[in-house]
Amino acid sequence: MSTPEKHRVVVTRRLYPFLIDELRTAYALDDNQDDHLLSADELAQRLATADGALIVGGERVGDALLAGTPRLKVVANVAVGYNNLDLPACTKHGVVATNTPDVLNESVADHGFALLLAAARRVGESERWLRVGLWKRWTFDMFPGADIHGKTLGIVGMGRIGRSIARRAAGFSMRVIYHNRKPLPAAEAAGAEWVGKEDLLRESDHVILMVPYAPSTHHLIGAAELALMKPTAVLVNLARGGVVDDRALIRALRDGRLAAAGLDVFEGEPELNPGFLELENVLMTPHIASSTRATREAMARLAMRNLAETLAGRRPPSLLNPDVWDQRRR
Ligand code: GLV
Repeated sequence: MSTPEKHRVVVTRRLYPFLIDELRTAYALDDNQDDHLLSADELAQRLATADGALIVGGERVGDALLAGTPRLKVVANVAVGYNNLDLPACTKHGVVATNTPDVLNESVADHGFALLLAAARRVGESERWLRVGLWKRWTFDMFPGADIHGKTLGIVGMGRIGRSIARRAAGFSMRVIYHNRKPLPAAEAAGAEWVGKEDLLRESDHVILMVPYAPSTHHLIGAAELALMKPTAVLVNLARGGVVDDRALIRALRDGRLAAAGLDVFEGEPELNPGFLELENVLMTPHIASSTRATREAMARLAMRNLAETLAGRRPPSLLNPDVWDQRRR
């Protein structure tokens, strides 16, 4: 009896070696573990003969790519956000698309607070000053920052991660207001109160953005919205580059119309608008909000499960395009 041929699976980025070992036992693996950035052409070439793929947000999957991947049955995003995936195109080609919700909620919420606290209390700026030997004596008015405790926090995008942020805010005795297109049932709002977007920007002492990126959220925060915010406020973007108009944000930070920003995501990342680098009142991290060892492993494992279940003919736990199921490629 011949052994069945293993499914061919492409992994586009470096993962922990023990995860690659597990994948290698199950699949014929094309693993890119030297982690070079795959061009669109190279991605298309690798996927042309693949049954499944583990990809990340930097890889775009759309109609043209899928047209050249006749065996591909599943693209498993190792990310909760999926603006890199054209879901109607996946469905049209019979390709199952999945993401990694929930497993990262708490780590991303922690990072949101790290950015909020560090930007408000000028942690990055004062550490840079200390490192270059400028600390000669203690002075009364060294780096006065903004308080977090007892203040009003505005969350734009009250989904699963937004609610984890709201629970943390309660520990800082903050009042939490939020804006979604529609108010949540009270039991799901983690004690936060729904307000309109403009009211949220006016009333909040600090604002955290956690909305998915879509055409409707492109430049959700631009010059007009920044002008509504308090000049003492901190703005945190944990969502996606493009949700904020970075040029308008740089102008507001430079002109003192906003106290500070804590940013994990940027328009056009990994390139940065050089204007950010000239500002002391912006604290930046390179899109690492979900990056703890345990959470990154949990995300990869959920993506691996989505892949394995689909290839075994079973519905994966985080199916993004349920319409595909009855007409999926087998
Ligand atoms: C990270 O940005 C994610 O979407 O998981």
